[in-house]
Order: sequence, then structure tokens, then C-alpha cells
Amino acid sequence: MTGIVPRGLHPSTRGQVDPFIVMDVMSAAAAREAAGQEVLHLEVGQPSTPAPRGVLDAARRALDSDRIGYTVALGIPALRERIARHYHDLYGVTVPAERIAVTTGSSAGFQLAFLSAFDAGARVALASPGYPAYRNILQALNIEVVDLPTERADRYQPTVERLEAAGPIDGVIVASPSNPTGTMLDGPAMRRLADWCRGRGVRLISDEIYHGIGYGTRPVTALEADPQAIVINSFSKYFSMTGWRIGWMVVPQDLLRSVECLAQNFFISPPTLSQIAAVAAFDCEDELQANLRRYAANRDVLLNELPKAGLDDLAPADGAFYVYANVAAHTNDSVEFCRRMLAETGVACTPGVDFDPSRGHATVRFSFAGATDTMAEACRRIADWLR
Ligand SMILES: Cc1ncc(COP(=O)(O)O)c(C=O)c1O
Repeated sequence: MTGIVPRGLHPSTRGQVDPFIVMDVMSAAAAREAAGQEVLHLEVGQPSTPAPRGVLDAARRALDSDRIGYTVALGIPALRERIARHYHDLYGVTVPAERIAVTTGSSAGFQLAFLSAFDAGARVALASPGYPAYRNILQALNIEVVDLPTERADRYQPTVERLEAAGPIDGVIVASPSNPTGTMLDGPAMRRLADWCRGRGVRLISDEIYHGIGYGTRPVTALEADPQAIVINSFSKYFSMTGWRIGWMVVPQDLLRSVECLAQNFFISPPTLSQIAAVAAFDCEDELQANLRRYAANRDVLLNELPKAGLDDLAPADGAFYVYANVAAHTNDSVEFCRRMLAETGVACTPGVDFDPSRGHATVRFSFAGATDTMAEACRRIADWLR
């Protein structure tokens, strides 16, 4: 034992990531409900609908007829092939099924993407405001987060100018439509970013989880601009399957074996029942389009009524189901603002600090994934409250 100094029990520094504050808001809302008080849920970033009927039927059939054992790590061939066909049908892009990796939600896709593409110490740029898990997962993997503080003028998306100013980087994450702003990259904007990345040997990672939830702007996959981009997607949002924990990646050839080995070791396989059921999701368009019409109606309510209530500085909300509002005229502490809004009106929403640690003290995010009546009632209460 001589020479060995025991280091003692201590939590790792890698594990010291920030909390996901929306989860804290959800806990406060649940506590209020448990106390018998009503909550209007504009905080949760998930559809209020179950999985489409065709998915449920496929799952029931599988339970009766299938062993539901492990599958191969990258997913069952039927699903990988169906996803590859989706790229052809929706975007006119050819992707071989071998380059599709089925994942345990897009959340597992991020782990696989970051681990396969970046060494510890790499620098990866992302827009702020943005989805908090990107930065927290990167941080847990000892990858440096390079913030791109975006503005309304950039539609809250990364630009080549901001990338030029960021210093040497190894990767860029884009999300279109974005959470929390809902803004989208059009074809030329995506191409400018992809060309810049390709010219400099920088990995482009595109989170396309909100594709399908749009209000007039065509979603562009990064694969249209660069077939070697890493694309991450999921059945959680458009397909209304959050709890099924099923998503996918389109993996560039040079990372494929690495992603496969990481997936074998980290996850063994994505959830088998969800894989079998997800094949049917692509044939449930009627139901999914009905969800989309409800989101569109909800969006109209918020974009019309929030300004009348005194919240008139709203991000454009091209897609997804979020309105990101500047509340600087009312507070410089969005956490306290949301806490009071919940306590005094029963409306739950998410403080911007989750998405933008430095400027989110003056912003909040409203999710409009719920019922249209809920949106209208929430706007009425917020208007009374701010009056
Ligand atoms: C932008 C974005 N990406 C990824 C995720 C994670 O989704 P999942 O792991 O359910 O696919 C979310 C969830 O809210 C999100 O908003």
C-alpha cells in the first residue's frame, strides 16, 4: 500500500452538470396538482396525445406474438429500411438503410454522436438559446461548449459569421426547428453552414427532431446540403411517442462502426417493442396531421393573445410547438417570474435560463403542445395577472 494515496469517495466533476430546469417546473406543477389545484401545462415539451392508433395496434400484436428480446444494436432491418425510405419520400435524399442507427430516443443519439465524433477536449459550437441537454451532455463528456449567442436578426440560428468568430472548433450543432425558439434554417442558410463546416473539417450535427411540425416553412435536412452530416431525429415529437424512447441517427460512413460498437456497449439495443411499433408510425399520417392542425390553432392563439396580454416580443415560431417570449419588461428573474405565474395563475411555463444561461433571465418558453382551450385560458389568466 505504500505510495498509494487514497483519494476518498467523491462525486466526479463530469457528473456535475446543470439540472434541466423544466423538470423542476414540472415537479412544482405536479405538487400543485397533488394539492388539488389546477395547472395549465404550457411547460412540457411533449405532445398531449398518445402514440397514433396504428402504432398501438402494432405494439399489441407484437406483445402477443413476439418474444421481445434484444435486437441487433443498430436496430431491426424493417425499421432501418422504413426510415431510409422516409428520407427518399420526404426530402428526395438517398440514404442507405445501413447508415441508419435506431437509438433510445434522440437523447441516446447525442451520446453516440458526440462520443464517436469528438475526443475529450474537442470544441463544439452551438446556438444560445438552445436545447440544454446538448451542452450538459457535452460537458459530461469533457467536450468544450462554444456558445454562439444568437439574435432575433439571425432567427436565433448559428451563422457563418458567428462560427468564424468562435475560434478553432471541431463540431457545430444545429437544430431546425429549434427548441426553444421554433425558428428554422432555410435551404440556403443550411447550405452556407454545411459548406463552411465541410471546408474546414468541422463535423455538422443536425437535430431534426421537430421536423414535421411546421407552419409553412419546408424543413430542410442537413443531408440535402452535406451527405456526411450527422443527423439526429426521433419518434418523440411529430410521431407523438415520447415515452417509447425511440429515435434514430443517420451516421456518416466513417463513424458507422464506432457508433455500432458504442451502441452495443452502452445500450445493447434500442427498446424492441418500440422498434416494432415505430415501423407503423409512418402510415399514421391522418392522425398525425390532425395533431399538427391542433398545434397550428394553438400557435395562432398564443401569437394573437400573448401580445394583447403584454408579451409582444415573441420569436417567430416557424416550427415545433414553442413560443419564446422576451419578458424583460416584466422581470429580470425568469425563474421567479415562472414560479409566481404558476402560484398565482396556475399557468406553468419554463424560464429561459434553461436554454440560455447568460440571457435567459429575461425570457420564458411557452409550449403549445396541449389543448387549444388550455392555450386560450392560459392567455386570459396571464393577461389578468400582468394587468
Ligand atoms: C431539440 C430537442 N432535441 C432532443 C430532444 C430529446 O428527445 P428524445 O430523447 O425524446 O428523442 C428534445 C426533447 O425535448 C428536444 O427538444
